[in-house]
Parts: sequence; C-alpha cells; structure tokens
Amino acid sequence: MAEARAGRRPIRTLLQAAPDGSLVRLHGWVRTRRDSKSATFVELNDGSCLANLQVVFDPQRPELALPEQATTGASLVVWGRLVPSPAKGQPVELQAERFTLVGGSTPDYPLQKKRHSFEYLRTIAHLRLRSNTFGAVARVRNALFFAIHEYFQTRGFMHVQAPMITANDAEGAGEMFTVTTLDLADVPKAEGKVDWSRDFFGRKASLTVSGQLEAEAFAHVFHDVYTFAPTFRAENSNTSRHAAEFLMCEPEMAFADLSDNIRLGEDFIKTVLATVRERCAEDMAFFDQRIEPGLLAKLDHVMDSPFEVLSYGEAVRLLEDSGQRFEFPVAWGCDLQSEHERYLTEQKIGRPVFVVDYPKDIKAFYMRQNEDGRTVAAMDMLVPGIGEIIGGSQREERVDLLEERMRAMGMSVQEYWWYLELRRFGGVPHAGFGVGFERLLMYITGLTNIRDALAFPRTPGHVEF
Ligand code: 4AD
Ligand code: MG
Repeated sequence: MAEARAGRRPIRTLLQAAPDGSLVRLHGWVRTRRDSKSATFVELNDGSCLANLQVVFDPQRPELALPEQATTGASLVVWGRLVPSPAKGQPVELQAERFTLVGGSTPDYPLQKKRHSFEYLRTIAHLRLRSNTFGAVARVRNALFFAIHEYFQTRGFMHVQAPMITANDAEGAGEMFTVTTLDLADVPKAEGKVDWSRDFFGRKASLTVSGQLEAEAFAHVFHDVYTFAPTFRAENSNTSRHAAEFLMCEPEMAFADLSDNIRLGEDFIKTVLATVRERCAEDMAFFDQRIEPGLLAKLDHVMDSPFEVLSYGEAVRLLEDSGQRFEFPVAWGCDLQSEHERYLTEQKIGRPVFVVDYPKDIKAFYMRQNEDGRTVAAMDMLVPGIGEIIGGSQREERVDLLEERMRAMGMSVQEYWWYLELRRFGGVPHAGFGVGFERLLMYITGLTNIRDALAFPRTPGHVEF
C-alpha cells in the first residue's frame, strides 16, 4: 500500500516542500480542531518548528471521520497529500487520506487555545512545553547549547568535566547542598557535631557550585578549556534570576589575564547571539512579537556595538551621582545590588557592560589581587533587563598571596592543598569566567523569569515534576 511507504517528514521541512500532491506521513499533536460541513480542519504541531501544519479531512469519506477524542491535545498519525493551501498565511496543507488516532484527549485538557498566564503554565510544566512559547524556548535553548559548544570547540577550547559531587566550596559562599547517605533520623555525632567521617565519602560532601577549581587544573595542561554542566546553589533567594539547579559554562585560559578574559567574554556573547538569531529565526521573531517587543533590534544593537568596560570605582561614582533613590544605598565597598546593576546597564550605558576591579572583600578568595591592595581583577558582565550574566576573574597565581587571602577569609588551607599545588608546580597567570546559561537564554528570548527558562525549574520550595 502506498501509504505504508510514505516517509515520515517533520513539519519544518514540509512547510518548505513543494505542494506537488506527494504522499507523506505526519505525526503530531492537535493544537486546534474546527469542524464544518465541508471539511474538518486540524492544526497539527510536531515540535519541529513553531508553525503548525493544517490537515484537512473530508467528512464525506467515512474513513476520514474524526472521533470526538481527536481534539486539542490528542496525538495523530496522518497520511495525506501535500497540496497548496487556499488559506492565508500558509503555503501548504495536508489533504488527509488516512489517519490513526494514537492518543485521544478530552475537553478538560489543561492547555486550551487561549492565553494562559506564565504563573498558571508553571503549574503544568509537563504540558506547557506544548505551548507556542515554551516550544520556542526549548528550541532556542537547544540552539544556544549547541552554539556554545561550537563556539569553544571551533576556537580550540577543550571540553572538560568537573565532578558534580565535591568536598570544596569553590565560591566560598557556603551555599551548598549536602550529599549524604547518613540516616537523617539518627545522625552520628561526635562532640555534639555531625560525624561526617561516618558518611559515604568519609567527610562532608556537597553538590558543586562551580567547576572552576577543577577547570583550573585542566587549564594547567591544555591551556584553553571549558566546562558546561549543571551547577547547584542553595541560595535561599526567591528572585526571578536565581535557580537552585542551573547550567553554567566556565571557560578557563592559561597564560591569560583580565583583558584576555574580557575579550573572550564579549566575543563569546556576540557570537552565540548571532548564531541563535540566525538559526532560530522563526522562534526569535515570535519572541520579538509576543514576549519582548524590540528584542531583535536590541540584539542587533548588542552585536554591533563595543561593550563598555567600567571599573567598580567608576561604577560607584556613577551611581552616587545618578540622583536616583536606591533601596540599598551605594558607597565604595558595597556589593552591587540588582537595582544598581540595572541602573548602570539600562539607564546609564544602554548595552552590556563589564564592571571590573571590585573590592576584594566582596569577591571570592581565588581572585587576583590588584596593585592597590584593596581590589581584585574581577569582571562581571551586566546586561539590560537582567543584570549579571557573566562572573569571572583573573586568578591569584601567587601562592603566598592566595594562602594569605584564604587565611584572612577563615578558610582551611589544608582542604585546598591540591588547588594551591597548581601554583607550586608550574603555576601560570590564568583567567576565566562563568556564564549562567539560563540567564543568557533569558536575555536572548526576553523572558523575565528564570522559572520559564528551565523546563522543570528547581527553586526554594519547588521541586515538582
Ligand atoms: O558569578 P558566579 O558565582 O561565578 C562563579 O561561579 C565562578 N566560579 C565562575 C568562574 O569564574 N569560572 O556565577 C557565574 C554565573 C553568574 O554570572 C550567573 O549568570 C550564573 O552563573 N548564576 C546563576 N544562574 C542562575 N541561578 C543562580 N542561582 C545563579 N548563580 C549564578
Ligand atoms: Mg557573580
């Protein structure tokens, strides 16, 4: 039978195919169904692109009578002929010859054809992927993931893996999830404290907050490396930009300083933006129309203009002179809050900006001390609408200064013995950064909440799905 030989074709390619009446097989899910006397119209989506393909069933033919359950949400296989569509806005449609209803649906399908709020959609994360917006987010996410690997792979960076389970706090911020097999109802104790020596690893272990420390070990062999992996933070901050589990990409370069790092950061952002914009034109046009009007113009502007570089000291002066009333007052030494970051990048500069040379007391122990003795060679990249999407630095390669800094911060020098040895044996100036994948995705799509950039977000109090 001819139908059996018809090849399976994604809608993405069918929409571009010549409507020459050839027989094709289509799989997908019903987005909408409309019944009239002369025809039944079904909009089918198969996830390969934003657009649906219209399938037309002739109700005069008994074998093409669609059962009631072939409604929004149902899954169908259709064999049909690709013909020119008389309807506006679509070049082709499928004239059904035969179909199988694979999985029916009912009128209480939670994703009916109307605008649902993002809040509601988060409660049906398993189904929201089937909506236009979340389908587009997932495709752009995939393209961005690939573009990032491609960026580094084509520039000689080696992908390396840092363990997810670790005994060291790479950021020294104490925001880690413990990994344990101890019986929580009967925790072994010694001198009133948990006796970690009786735990699985013989000491306290956690989920990693960053693969940087191990990436530095790799960089001391392979020069240019990057990690790209899940990262976990037990920050109890319920903001639109923090997730407990997210992806971070961390390039690390040996024989490199802060200006190399800034150059890499700027080139990286511009390149992946351009790649995704080009490869996901349809989805990006959708975001421009429905999520952030002016998004494409914003991205074009970003790709065309040099990023600003501002020292922390200059940033503080701009904030002090701004005449703005901030919730958190600004003075040299304070950590920049999101309201400050956004004022700088949105109002003052109007495009991405690197803020560099932060006070050492608000940054991680591994950052390289500057000559002034009070700042470190840090760089944060801030973008309008979000704030920080990249955090990085040149690393302290001078072992005595590093040890001194760790002691001053109350850290155990013994626990980081191997990290210090990277400096003792063939240490070199090196630098790197971490880019939050979901924050970058938010910037590219115009999404304003990180809960929508992850299919199944983990945030304080939420681990459903
Ligand atoms: O600035 P962070 O904490 O830097 C590091 O972890 C360094 N070890 C990176 C390095 O130099 N190799 O985190 C880097 C980026 C942030 O700029 C932000 O984009 C993202 O990771 N990020 C988060 N994204 C989502 N949810 C969170 N809770 C995040 N915390 C950080
Ligand atoms: Mg940071």
